[in-house]
Amino acid sequence: MRVMSVPSDDPVESLGEPDQVRSGRLIVTIDGPAGTGKSSVAQRVASRLGLTVLDTGAMYRAAALLTLRLGIDPTDATGIAGALGTHCIEMDFETEPPTVLLDRDHLGEEIRGSKVESIVSVVAAHPEVRDRLVAVQRAVASSHPRLVTEGRDQGSVVFPDADARFFMTASSEVRARRRVDQLRAKGQNLDVESVLRGIEARDRIDTGRADGPLVRPEGAIEIDTDHLPLVEVVDRIVAAIRDAGGDS
Ligand code: DC
Repeated sequence: MRVMSVPSDDPVESLGEPDQVRSGRLIVTIDGPAGTGKSSVAQRVASRLGLTVLDTGAMYRAAALLTLRLGIDPTDATGIAGALGTHCIEMDFETEPPTVLLDRDHLGEEIRGSKVESIVSVVAAHPEVRDRLVAVQRAVASSHPRLVTEGRDQGSVVFPDADARFFMTASSEVRARRRVDQLRAKGQNLDVESVLRGIEARDRIDTGRADGPLVRPEGAIEIDTDHLPLVEVVDRIVAAIRDAGGDS
């Protein structure tokens, strides 16, 4: 069993040693819209509890990148499904955090770029695409049964029998502001208004699709992160997992 960690110079949280790694199955799902901090929270929860972390959004981003590279129309579900049949999207668990591979290649920041961002919701809405990636996600849970997995449908569709489920929310204005700050840290200057429009457009597609829409999974604990620092979100999730007996 591999233990996830985040860099030790992380100023947000002093992680210390992860809890003793235990052997039983523990599947934790964290769902919610873009910009709620799911990835950062999932990595820290994984580190605290000695779990593996899975970023399912990265898998849909890899499918979108493949679509772009092959020049397939993003609305062509059959074309994309065919490409996914001959190309391989998988996770590399040797990196920390685990990263997505397309045909064994690391994709780096390309999956976070504006081209991928502009089509990923359209690509992710196709049931043919979702079926394939959900199968990969369930296979990951079989080989890493102590897992924190984050996305839009992890608690509702992929792991409805998860041991603990969470739904993170934040207003679209706060999410846009966080995204602009992230991009600024990478040297990209975008205005809040255009980022907000992009976030709201993606939310509409993610929420409105028929297959695996963004919903609060039944029984999930909802955490509004508008006024909650990251470290407190992590504390609440870790405490809820322990209260539910998931860490013993
Ligand atoms: O979490 P993210 O922003 O990296 O996700 C990228 C896109 O993939 C976003 O449009 C939602 C979609 N997605 C999805 O449909 N299902 C998931 N489990 C994860 C992401």
